[in-house]
Amino acid sequence: MTRDISTRLVHHAYRPPADFEAPQIGVHKASTVIFKDTASLRARDWRQKNGYTYGLHGTPTTFSLEERIATLEGGLQTLLVPSGLAAIAVVNMALLSQGDEVLLPDNVYGPSRELARHELARFGIAHRLYDPMDVASLAAAIGERTRLVWVEAPGSVTMEFPDLRSLVAAARTRGVTTAIDNTWGAGIAFDAFETGVDISMQALTKYPSGGGDVLMGSVTTRDPALHERIKLSHMRTGWGVAANDAELVLRSLPSIALRYRSQDATGREVARWLASRAEIGRLLHPAFAGSPGHEHWAATCSAAAGLFSVMFDPAIDSVAVDRFVDALKLFRIGYSWAGPCSLVVPYDLPAMRKPTPYPGTLVRFSMGLEAPADLVNDLEQALVKMNR
Ligand SMILES: Cc1ncc(COP(=O)(O)O)c(C=O)c1O
Repeated sequence: MTRDISTRLVHHAYRPPADFEAPQIGVHKASTVIFKDTASLRARDWRQKNGYTYGLHGTPTTFSLEERIATLEGGLQTLLVPSGLAAIAVVNMALLSQGDEVLLPDNVYGPSRELARHELARFGIAHRLYDPMDVASLAAAIGERTRLVWVEAPGSVTMEFPDLRSLVAAARTRGVTTAIDNTWGAGIAFDAFETGVDISMQALTKYPSGGGDVLMGSVTTRDPALHERIKLSHMRTGWGVAANDAELVLRSLPSIALRYRSQDATGREVARWLASRAEIGRLLHPAFAGSPGHEHWAATCSAAAGLFSVMFDPAIDSVAVDRFVDALKLFRIGYSWAGPCSLVVPYDLPAMRKPTPYPGTLVRFSMGLEAPADLVNDLEQALVKMNR
């Protein structure tokens, strides 16, 4: 009996070619995973590497990206989540229970602090801030209920580079798990696990994607028991990523080291030029002497992200700084850095941090892939307009 056309289109005999190879791996999309019989349905364990059971728990495409991010980070296992912030959330959710406390650096990525302040608090989980540039401040903050310490290098927006090894050691001697937000280092600038940290989280949204068009996060570990604990929470809370997004990150990964070093070189050239200008009061770039924690950056890193901030001279008010930002033509105004287009954001530092660590108006720059000389020319013409 001839089957209906709809049936024949669904049950077409296509099978992927076994001997086909290409530079990029195939994009396998699934909500449903099909089993050949009931025995294989019962035997399949989603916790195994190739235990395909349900699209949410992974396809060959997402598992390949997990393996490559683990390689990039020098870890053993990686989990993917739909954003960098979701990676922070899944670590918190897996490791913290009612009555526990988590410690965050006072220059932590802002939404991570908001997550603790508003969401974790509703579940009876407390948080406390410590000064990442003072190891004694962390040691003093660790209490009976502390279960997790976050570190970030450098801190978001103000860019202080901490003594990671000493911070991690202070937590470890008290038996507390440590997690790093390794988005800035991206697995290129330094070896996060070499600092002794237990978990490395990244916003793949930034350097691993590199396109300014994908949101994704990763959680990487070296300890299989810790991985399993986070993976169980990950599974129960439904954090899947789409294969088309994974495909985009897989396509960008081979060029991450090239892009990172190029944006680093551009960032240093542009930062050096800005620092020479009378309008700039202070440069906050960990690769420059005089920037907070430069000595820790020098002892830890072989490179720096193309991301830095400047404090304008306090005599220049924020209205004038806005005029400068609005006059820029190549630098576009936007937050999510490490893409092809250079970005700029003026921040209201007094509203973010109390006490305010530096006087003046802060502007953060993110380097794209444009020629450094063009970026410097853009800055110069915008400063002329600001000074008018
Ligand atoms: C340091 C850092 N961590 C985490 C994130 C969160 O990443 P996502 O935008 O993918 O949620 C960002 C995003 O700006 C970031 O800068």
